[in-house]
Amino acid sequence: MSFLVIANFKSNKTSQEVTSWVSQVSRYIRSTSSLEIAVAPSFPHLPLLKGFTLAAQDVSPFPKGSYTGAVNAAQLKEIGVKYVIIGHSERRRYFHETHQEIANKAQELYSVGLTPVLCLDKIDISCQFAALAVDKSDLIYAYEPVSDIGGTSTAPIKEISSVIADIRHIAGNSARVLYGGSVNANNISSLQGLADGVLVATASLDPDNFISLINVIR
Ligand code: PGA
Repeated sequence: MSFLVIANFKSNKTSQEVTSWVSQVSRYIRSTSSLEIAVAPSFPHLPLLKGFTLAAQDVSPFPKGSYTGAVNAAQLKEIGVKYVIIGHSERRRYFHETHQEIANKAQELYSVGLTPVLCLDKIDISCQFAALAVDKSDLIYAYEPVSDIGGTSTAPIKEISSVIADIRHIAGNSARVLYGGSVNANNISSLQGLADGVLVATASLDPDNFISLINVIR
């Protein structure tokens, strides 16, 4: 299975900045059979990400219908999105998302054949799984310790290793588990062989930083 890198731009870029990022980064890097590079920009910028696997930062917990402001799973599917991040700590914190809403999002994604990337922090992982009560097959997990997001060094490797083992214990040994939190070109090599991929925000924003990170992986 290929190592998966998801660049999460969060709510950072203008469309001009996304276009410039794409032209700079695609000159140097592409997905290969052993490395898949997905990008999660803001919704309006998804069509600009030509040449990269498309990921979305969120999805509606509802199907199509009268839900003002919501972007549903079928709409993401029709523009070519493959992965959708759900349960990111910023969604839980600033948008007050509940376990039930996150589970509903997972169900909506399954219903159209998109792959959820479920973010979990270190607090009471088993409880989060139980509360989610979603079909655990074909779900990608992302261990994202909240306190290690947006910095320059990852959580301790021992801790990452033990939480990934806990997730696999609950979700099954073949579960695909990513790590996210301050991943950059200086620390990515210690995560290869431990996680099945990474979620990267800060170090993905600048094209040169992102190219350096990908070059270390290759
Ligand atoms: P970071 O964010 O790479 O800036 O630490 C990771 C994330 O929030 O997914």
